Amino acid sequence: MSGSIEVRGLSRTFHTTVRRPGFTGTLRSLVDPERVAKHAVQDITFDVAPGELLALLGPNGAGKSTTIKMLTGILTPTSGECRVAGVVPYQERERNARNIGAVFGQRTQLWWDLPVRESFAILRDIYEVPKAEHAARLEEFDDLLDLSSFWDTRVRHLSLGQRVRSDLAAALLHDPPVVFLDEPTIGMDVVVKEQVREFLRYQVEQRSRTVLLTTHDMTEVERLAERVVLINHGRLVLDGSLDDIRRKFGSTWQVRATLADAHTDVVPLPGIAVLRRDGPRVVFGPDGPDAPTVHQALKTVIERYEVTGVAIDEADLEDVMRAAYVHAEAV
Ligand SMILES: Nc1ncnc2c1ncn2[C@@H]1O[C@H](COP(=O)(O)OP(=O)(O)O)[C@@H](O)[C@H]1O
Ligand SMILES: [Mg+2]
Repeated sequence: MSGSIEVRGLSRTFHTTVRRPGFTGTLRSLVDPERVAKHAVQDITFDVAPGELLALLGPNGAGKSTTIKMLTGILTPTSGECRVAGVVPYQERERNARNIGAVFGQRTQLWWDLPVRESFAILRDIYEVPKAEHAARLEEFDDLLDLSSFWDTRVRHLSLGQRVRSDLAAALLHDPPVVFLDEPTIGMDVVVKEQVREFLRYQVEQRSRTVLLTTHDMTEVERLAERVVLINHGRLVLDGSLDDIRRKFGSTWQVRATLADAHTDVVPLPGIAVLRRDGPRVVFGPDGPDAPTVHQALKTVIERYEVTGVAIDEADLEDVMRAAYVHAEAV
């Protein structure tokens, strides 16, 4: 089964009523409520190929969770369409559920009052997974997520990291080709985060699952995603590989050089500006849209000048993404 995700012109609008201010406003709102339309997702189009991990990024309120809810069949789009492993999620919710696993970091899908292992057993029955297959998969997950140290504990007594690891296992026990993860590592400590990342990498690389992940953690994006989609105010801002995005928006590098001779004439080079000069210390930066990468610039600088020392600063992914948003707001 092909685990692709296809999203075409997907939109979702919420209608809410707002209270007018003041006492008379409240009275008026009772008889004549003011309806406000919130365009949470607007005309979004993208694909995720089978076996690919795509990071869906955007600030709070951008529309990420709403998009995932439409793909998991929890919400029906206002317009547009989507297919997950060939199924229209909101039309065939149950069929879709067999093809997908979903983890929402903010809340659990497990039974609060049951030990984790009993939740797993219930899921085995729901999805009709053969006993031997279930046991084998649980063992595999235990190796990667270290579940057995706490799986006899009731879910309500688990730490956040234990709870999310249990949720991940629960979401994948029926072997779905497509996995949706909405901020799965939010609030976790670094050790557990790393364990979860390793688990996800294994699921993509060894099990060829298709993963759509939302996160605010750029380290996670760098470690796991080759491609990202950025959304802002419900609209798709950018869809590209991490390399493309760095090339386009990551041009905030600096090359800091110390010249052998403090009196050398320093001139701008093609695409490379002189940002600061203080005796032998010179700071070069990108100049214009055709500026070289930091590594090309470094090579140019040390070929052109005799230097006794050199250092580079590269924009981190956080800065690159910020630049991409700023660019999107400006157009
Ligand atoms: N059920 C709802 N009713 C009204 N507004 C909603 C509802 N769900 C989400 N929204 C609004 O839609 C926008 C997008 O929300 P969401 O998809 O949760 O964003 P994100 O996950 O990117 O933080 C927000 O402005 C949010 O307040
Ligand atoms: Mg969200």
